[in-house]
Amino acid sequence: MTDTSEREPPAPATRALVTPPVPTAIDAAPFDDARTAALRSRAIEVLAANTRDGYVAPAKGLYIHQHLWDTCFVAIGQRHYDIEAAMRGLRRLVGAQWKNGMVPHIRFEAGWRHWWDRHVWRSRVNPAAPRSPATGGISQPPMLAEAVVRVGEVLGRAERRRWYESMYRPLVEYHLWLHFDRVLDGDRLAVQIHPWETGLDNSPPLLELLERARTPLWLDLLARSGADRLATKLRWDTKYVPADQRSSTLEALRLYWALARIRRLRYDTDAALRRGPFAVQDLTVNSILVRANARLRELASEIRAPLPAHLLAAMSAHERAMGDLWDDVDGQYYSRDARSGELVKAPSVATLMPLYAGCVDRTHATALVQLLSNPGAFGTPYPVPSVPPGSRWFQPCRYWQGPTWINVNWLLIDGMRRYGFDDAAEALRRRTLDVVTRHGFFEYYDPISGTPAGAKGFSWTAALVIDLLATEARGTAPGSAALRDRPAVAP
Ligand code: GLC
Repeated sequence: MTDTSEREPPAPATRALVTPPVPTAIDAAPFDDARTAALRSRAIEVLAANTRDGYVAPAKGLYIHQHLWDTCFVAIGQRHYDIEAAMRGLRRLVGAQWKNGMVPHIRFEAGWRHWWDRHVWRSRVNPAAPRSPATGGISQPPMLAEAVVRVGEVLGRAERRRWYESMYRPLVEYHLWLHFDRVLDGDRLAVQIHPWETGLDNSPPLLELLERARTPLWLDLLARSGADRLATKLRWDTKYVPADQRSSTLEALRLYWALARIRRLRYDTDAALRRGPFAVQDLTVNSILVRANARLRELASEIRAPLPAHLLAAMSAHERAMGDLWDDVDGQYYSRDARSGELVKAPSVATLMPLYAGCVDRTHATALVQLLSNPGAFGTPYPVPSVPPGSRWFQPCRYWQGPTWINVNWLLIDGMRRYGFDDAAEALRRRTLDVVTRHGFFEYYDPISGTPAGAKGFSWTAALVIDLLATEARGTAPGSAALRDRPAVAP
């Protein structure tokens, strides 16, 4: 279990303590056996339809390659009905690991049809990239250890041991890379060198940071002249999803420009930190990393394989450093600009992610659950909005700028359960299942009306619905006792 004895979190803001009480009402109907069975089998059909050679793609047409955190969420669902497929997907992902330990965010489909995608990345400019398979040059939120352990949970003892043994080395190398390659001197939080590494691609704090980068003249001219509207016509993604549900053309061009910059720096972390366009200590990634570390410790202890002492020390220091992302004035967590050291105070759902990390004291956790239910913050009819409706950035159907995403809900449900906020967790679980039952397995949903948006037949939505259905009966999640008993900070 996570060692929290050394943590000295900052005192919480008074403002956070006077927000409304944590909700207890469960306002969406429970699922009976027939509804559960019907939804589950529809979800399995979605995953079957997206299955390719050895993995499940995120969605037809729009995303056909193997993505890191998508594969992890998919495995968490598949473990309930096809454990072999869950293991196969994770093994295949690990088969693309770089020599320096990085697990890339994408493993590309082979074949001439997708030559262009591979060519855009050309990740072999970095000597640590494998010659084959072709991969992206950056990573994504480190969900791997969580997925490996979740799969392990449903295996018999001997099989689990073999599974953990096979994953131990890749995971240790991956976490060493995160803690030693991806940190600034004298700091412990992991840094991301492109917004796509955070998984929340165009979330407001990331866009704000990217806007601070010195962009080339042609991008500025495009922005000022409005000529980006013409470029919209050339976009391929809008063949699948309406343009107003995706990143704007200007945002997309900035993201590709940032990719070209880090490719020129050969995806080298040091070079990207010194000369790249973007460097963030992202709240989502670092929260997921805290939890992944705890999962890796569990795995290692089960197979009695000690973790390197320097990795253990880095994990503890990392967890303590999460406190630096709390802002006393706003009573919220934020991501941090890795270069200036300043918090990026654009509101986004990332602020709630420390609940999933499980490393914050009860007072801070309570403040986050209150934000979740507060109609002036994240308490919308179909929660949880990726950006609160009061924000100037909020657009209910645009990608990470407002819509509700099912993977985010899953992470928060899990976190709330572990802290013992059972009713709030159950309410969110039912509302999550409710919106999917009404509208189908979409990439995201309008948090006010529930209208579906983004890609249709989206894999992690389907997989996590299967998991949420399976966990109905379970009032507590692993590790919850320790978090329930976690003391509040003295007011
Ligand atoms: C979108 C998401 C990203 C995900 C990818 C594939 O780009 O922002 O997190 O991995 O789709 O589903």
